[in-house]
Amino acid sequence: MQTVPLTPFMGVEVKNVQLATATDASTTAALRRLMAEHSLLLFRDQYDLTPGAHVAFSRGFGELEEHVLSDFCLDGHPEIFVVSNIIENGKHIGAFGGSKAYHSDLAYLPEPSMGSVFRCLECPAEGGETAFISMFAVYDALPPEQQQWLSERTAVFDYVWHYERYHTDRPPLSDEQRKRVPPIEQPCVRAHPETGRPALYVSPTWVRRFGDLSETESEPLLQELLAFACDDRFAYYHTWQPGDVLIWDNRSSMHKACPFDEQNTRRLMHRTTIKGDAPIAYAMPS
Ligand code: SIN
Repeated sequence: MQTVPLTPFMGVEVKNVQLATATDASTTAALRRLMAEHSLLLFRDQYDLTPGAHVAFSRGFGELEEHVLSDFCLDGHPEIFVVSNIIENGKHIGAFGGSKAYHSDLAYLPEPSMGSVFRCLECPAEGGETAFISMFAVYDALPPEQQQWLSERTAVFDYVWHYERYHTDRPPLSDEQRKRVPPIEQPCVRAHPETGRPALYVSPTWVRRFGDLSETESEPLLQELLAFACDDRFAYYHTWQPGDVLIWDNRSSMHKACPFDEQNTRRLMHRTTIKGDAPIAYAMPS
């Protein structure tokens, strides 16, 4: 296994590993360590990673989630969430038009995902990149008094509130779906469970307000914080090739899909989402 940095602050390309057969415990442990340290791992030319192999590889990291939007999960493989603009027989085959604002996967759950394994099957020649932000780097760059203020706060993540505001092009959520994702509160700064390193844990998606402040009080503060956090100086933009696989750490990064010509080109991606634990609040040393 050989690694080449993608940026000075996040991500490595991992060479000489075929994920379809990399299911032994020592390879998984080595990849897990790399993920905890670098937040993002890139593997090229993974053409033999079938849906079954994708699920088997991902299970090495832990139990897998089945997404609340079950219509967008792959037939026969409910652990694979399809992200795509493709329409077949008059129906979208995957989640479309969304994820264009930074987020970490399933951050609206009390035990949000620890990481995701995202595979490119088809991509447009232009656009459709995935952008990533290192939340370690964002936290490190905040002034100490803001680090302190944030480390004493929680943020309210509200899936239904966000869905109804931003996904008006998608079918309304059923009562059953709404019940599965009530609003939750999480620490604004979380300690990485494997390294203890602090990462900002607030995103432009799902975060409705700070736990102890109203929406009106929170809004300008959130806007200012998120404008700081979403700056390109903390970002890596991944230009996809079919056969690419990215594994990202949802505990220390955010990501978003970049725009592309959704009417005339095709993008087809498969994601498995690994279950995680409740975030640990970071306590600043006194
Ligand atoms: C996602 O948010 O998991 C997908 C991002 C993308 O489509 O690039």
